[in-house]
Amino acid sequence: MRHLLLAAALLVLLPLAVSAADGGKAVAKAPAAPPAPPNITASMAKGGCKAFAALVAASPDALSTFQSAADGGVTAFCPTDDAMRSFMPTYKNLTADGKASLLLFHAVPVYYSLRSLKSNNGVMNTLATDGSAKNFNFTVQNEGDKVTIKTDANEGVARIKDTVYDKDPIAIYALDTVLEPVELFDPVEAPAPAPAPVADAPKASKSKKASRRHVADAPGPAGDDAPPADEKKSSKKNAAAGGAPRSRWLAAVPVAVAVAVAAALV
Ligand SMILES: *[C@@H]1O[C@H](CO)[C@@H](O)[C@H](O)[C@H]1NC(C)=O
Ligand SMILES: *[C@@H]1O[C@H](CO)[C@@H](O)[C@H](O)[C@H]1NC(C)=O
Ligand SMILES: *[C@@H]1O[C@H](CO)[C@@H](O)[C@H](O)[C@H]1NC(C)=O
Repeated sequence: MRHLLLAAALLVLLPLAVSAADGGKAVAKAPAAPPAPPNITASMAKGGCKAFAALVAASPDALSTFQSAADGGVTAFCPTDDAMRSFMPTYKNLTADGKASLLLFHAVPVYYSLRSLKSNNGVMNTLATDGSAKNFNFTVQNEGDKVTIKTDANEGVARIKDTVYDKDPIAIYALDTVLEPVELFDPVEAPAPAPAPVADAPKASKSKKASRRHVADAPGPAGDDAPPADEKKSSKKNAAAGGAPRSRWLAAVPVAVAVAVAAALV
C-alpha cells in the first residue's frame, strides 16, 4: 500500500517536474537585449590612440568599414600617438586610397581575445584585403609573453602594448609601431636609393625605431624562451551551456515535493 501511494504521488507530480524543467529552459533561452556597440574611435582615443582614431573618423571609407565589421566581429590594432607622430609625414604622402587602406590594414574581421591571438600565430587577412590582388596581410607571432605583428615592409616588429577594449565581438589593442603593408611600402630588403635632403624625416624615424628595438631587447635572456611550436589550440566557445543546470534545479524541486507528499500520505 505504501508503495502504491508513493507511486501514485510520483505519477501525479512527475509531469509537473518535467514541465517545470521546460519552463526553466524557456526562461534561460529568453534573449537578453544586446548591449549597444561601443564607439570604436572613441574607445581608441581613450586608449592612447587619439591621432589614429582621428584619421579613421576623418576617412568615410575607413569609418564605415570599421563600423560594419564590428557587427560580425573585429580586432583592431591602433598605433599609439607616439607611433603616429613619426609616421604622419609618410601618411600625408599617401593617396586617399592609400590612406584608407593603411587604416583598414590595422584591423582583422575576426574577434580575438589576447589569449586566442596568442594561439593563432600566422598570416592574417585584414579589412584592407580585397581578393588576391590586394593581399594586405600581416603575420602575428608570439615573442615571449608579448604578441607581435610583422610585415615585410616593417623594419622591426610591432608589439601589442595594451588592451584598449575587449568584449566579444570587438577587441582593440594598442601597438607601439605603425604597420606598413608591402602593397604601399617597399620591403625592407630593397636597397635604398641615395637619400635626398627632403627624405631625412623617414630616415630619422627608422633609426629611432632601430634603437628602440635594441632597448626593448636589452632585458633579453629572461623573456627569450619561445613558446612551444605546437601551442595552437582551438578556442572553444561555450555560449550555450548557461541554461542547463538551472533547469535541472527547477525540475528537482517538484520531485522533492512529490517525495515529501508521498511520505506524508504514508
Ligand atoms: C564616436 O565618437 C566620436 C568622438 O570620438 C564622435 O565624433 C562620433 O560622433 C561618435 N560616433 C557615434 C556613432 O556615436
Ligand atoms: C613624399 O613623396 C615624395 C615623392 O614621392 C618623396 O620625395 C618624399 O620623400 C616623400 N616624403 C615622405 C615624408 O615620405
Ligand atoms: C600575403 O601577402 C603577400 C604579399 O602580397 C603574398 O605574397 C602572400 O601570398 C600572402 N599570403 C597569404 C597567406 O595570403
